[in-house]
Amino acid sequence: MIGSIPSSLTGGDHRHAVENDRFEAIWQNNRTGAGMFTSIGSTEATITVFLDDKPIQAREGETVAACLLRASVPYFRTTPVSGSARLPYCMIGLCFDCLIEIDGIGSRQACLSQVRHGMRLRTQEGAAAVAGEHLQ
Ligand code: FES
Repeated sequence: MIGSIPSSLTGGDHRHAVENDRFEAIWQNNRTGAGMFTSIGSTEATITVFLDDKPIQAREGETVAACLLRASVPYFRTTPVSGSARLPYCMIGLCFDCLIEIDGIGSRQACLSQVRHGMRLRTQEGAAAVAGEHLQ
């Protein structure tokens, strides 16, 4: 049943029935506040990571990217050429906009790395970070 979804979005063609059912489930979840995303780890921040030496509370099992986005970090890195700020985009390991230094190793994908108590994170600044050097 697709009663509440505008027909301009669903089509009505039988060959799109499977896509329509999936779309309806997402649509209904968004309407009820359930949303498309469900937390798979703890919802309590019980561990601590450090970004540029500042403590941030993290949830066991979450990714570094999820933790830092929840903490409203303004950017994870700046680009080598223009210096523009970058935040995670895809969250599935494809775009590389989430690169960050983790425990002294640069250019790690924050969206694919799980937090660990005491983890040391450092934002990456431009070309020096790509080359493995820190700007002072
Ligand atoms: S957010 Fe795209 S690779 Fe991590």
